[in-house]
Amino acid sequence: MKNRISRIIKPSTGRSLVLPIDHGYFLGPTRRLEKPWKTVEPLLPYMDALMLTRGVLRASMDPKMNVPIILRVSGGTSIVGPDLSNESITTSVIEALRLNASAVSLSIFVGTSHEHQTLTNLSLLVDECEDYGIPVFAVTAVGKELEKRDSRYLSLCCRIAAEIGARAVKTYYCEGFEKVVEGCPVPVLIAGGPKMDTEMDALQTAYEAIQAGAVGVVMGRNIWQNDYPVAMIKAVRAVVHEDANPKEAIQIYNESKK
Ligand code: 5RP
Repeated sequence: MKNRISRIIKPSTGRSLVLPIDHGYFLGPTRRLEKPWKTVEPLLPYMDALMLTRGVLRASMDPKMNVPIILRVSGGTSIVGPDLSNESITTSVIEALRLNASAVSLSIFVGTSHEHQTLTNLSLLVDECEDYGIPVFAVTAVGKELEKRDSRYLSLCCRIAAEIGARAVKTYYCEGFEKVVEGCPVPVLIAGGPKMDTEMDALQTAYEAIQAGAVGVVMGRNIWQNDYPVAMIKAVRAVVHEDANPKEAIQIYNESKK
């Protein structure tokens, strides 16, 4: 278990930069992720782990790539369906082992009509994964209700995920984020969310989250929807692993995009 976690959260800094490309599991062929390998290949040297579904891993990735996998194992809904929270477990633990996953991820939807279902999904997954030493990363999802992202709600979600047995939690950054981290006994990472207006906004968010105690960022669209994704991932990496401030990070971005 600890060995798998240390593949993702790097012992040298205690931090992690995860690139998620699992969006298609409910959003379909998301902009700039239409051809996943084309998006991912240039970014491989700069990420600590890649979060994706088994379908894209099998069909689009190069099996020789040497990057730890966080396998998305929940789903069963779509952006055009009635309710994004109605998720089930979509991939078995045996499949995760076969695909050499270093961790699995699953969404919980606290405060929705599928709260109970998604929390029991988590508990079942944890029970099974613990037998094989596979860490479960819980994702505190809000579906379309992005306005839910405040520290009181996210503290509740993260703590519940940890109590059920998640080994790490991915949540959103919010004002008062220290409280979210304080109340969660396992490492917390932040999601990037939809693409922000400027690079500075995304770097500032990553910086504030790290300074408030997040162990890392799971940033997708703000990296691979950028016109210069390699420059952007380098800048985010400096924030995560080198404590670069947003000004220093934007300098790295500007230098790298030349
Ligand atoms: C969807 C996910 C994504 O992995 C997550 O949203 C991270 O990507 P982005 O930074 O683009 O938001 O878990 O539920």
